[in-house]
Amino acid sequence: MSSALMSNYQPLSIEFITGSGTWLTDVQGERYLDALSGIAVCGLGHAHPAVQEAIADQAAKLIHTSNLYRIPLQEKLAEKLVQHSGMEKVFFGNSGAEANEAAIKLARLYASNKKIDKPVIVVMEKSFHGRTMATLSATGNPKVHQGFDPLVEGFRHIPYNDIDALKALANEDLNIVAVMVEPILGEGGVVIPDAGYLKAVRTFCDEHDCLMMVDEIQTGMCRTGKWFAFQYEDVMPDVMTLAKALGNGVPIGACLARGEAANLFQPGNHGSTFGGNPLASRAALAVIEVLEADNLAQRAEVLGNRLLDGLKQALKAVPGIKEIRGAGLMLAIELDEDAPDLVALALKEKLLINVTAGNVIRLLPVLVMSDSEADQIVTKLSKLLKAYLA
Ligand SMILES: Cc1ncc(COP(=O)(O)O)c(C=O)c1O
Repeated sequence: MSSALMSNYQPLSIEFITGSGTWLTDVQGERYLDALSGIAVCGLGHAHPAVQEAIADQAAKLIHTSNLYRIPLQEKLAEKLVQHSGMEKVFFGNSGAEANEAAIKLARLYASNKKIDKPVIVVMEKSFHGRTMATLSATGNPKVHQGFDPLVEGFRHIPYNDIDALKALANEDLNIVAVMVEPILGEGGVVIPDAGYLKAVRTFCDEHDCLMMVDEIQTGMCRTGKWFAFQYEDVMPDVMTLAKALGNGVPIGACLARGEAANLFQPGNHGSTFGGNPLASRAALAVIEVLEADNLAQRAEVLGNRLLDGLKQALKAVPGIKEIRGAGLMLAIELDEDAPDLVALALKEKLLINVTAGNVIRLLPVLVMSDSEADQIVTKLSKLLKAYLA
């Protein structure tokens, strides 16, 4: 690896140079089946023609002007997101962390407007919200905190999927202004909460006059079989954040809000030089058009069930597997023990997977794959796991 790069990543020594749909090709011309989509980013697969065309066309017209001037493509994109989510207003940044920073700032403004001292945002253990100072402080993983003291104050971590823990906070002398939650824990191990969990969070927020903020950065944009995973329950959050698949690889993040939260930011409160620029907005609009036209939320559900059934069937008698679970195309095979070498072994089999939380094989494949490609993921992965766990 180039010595000119900082050492914060430890990339595998493979160099991909082209991609098409569900496949990536390396410098040697070897093809790899991608069951990770650049960590839930390339939902439409690699080099999708509609996204390609939109980026190229926009690059030839206008890439950037800044938010000093109106950006019609950004306005159109906001309208589309509002339409699909039921939220009311949107702020655009360039990443998930920035989207969550905006959400955290909204919670702080909400507190400030109510003259609340020492506001607290409730966040979850094992959550992941980003790597900026505020979002890493919100993140419920001590490894992410390590070395970065003093953390941003005002976050209180409680166990995920534990409504009693949330309710118990009401007995403490805390100024809770928001609850920030992933509808499914992504980095934390693809943990799917009990049905009714988000609804109970909503009720708590209503009863305690605080904002329900849903981090859909990994789950959003049709991945789980709905446009947004919160839509599995009959709830509406006050704030929702997006990034990852929104631009299919073109960096863009969004913080959406509804009700009082939608009107908190006033000129000068927040901003981003690049946020929602014409290029990124055009790419995201192209993504949304394809998601709509090809009904990919439904397709993600169908493909997800196919993968889930296939994996359960193929691995049913294999020891060392704790659980196989998923929602749409966000799937996990939880092992009894950590599997630090599995990603490299899969790579040898020309399959891209991820292992998160030590022992959870995470699959986040593209939404546009064929049935046969889904079956190839099952075949390759089950063969690998049978050998690995034997
Ligand atoms: C749920 C969630 N929130 C926030 C982030 C941070 O996004 P980014 O890396 O774009 O800053 C991630 C990234 O993995 C994520 O999964």
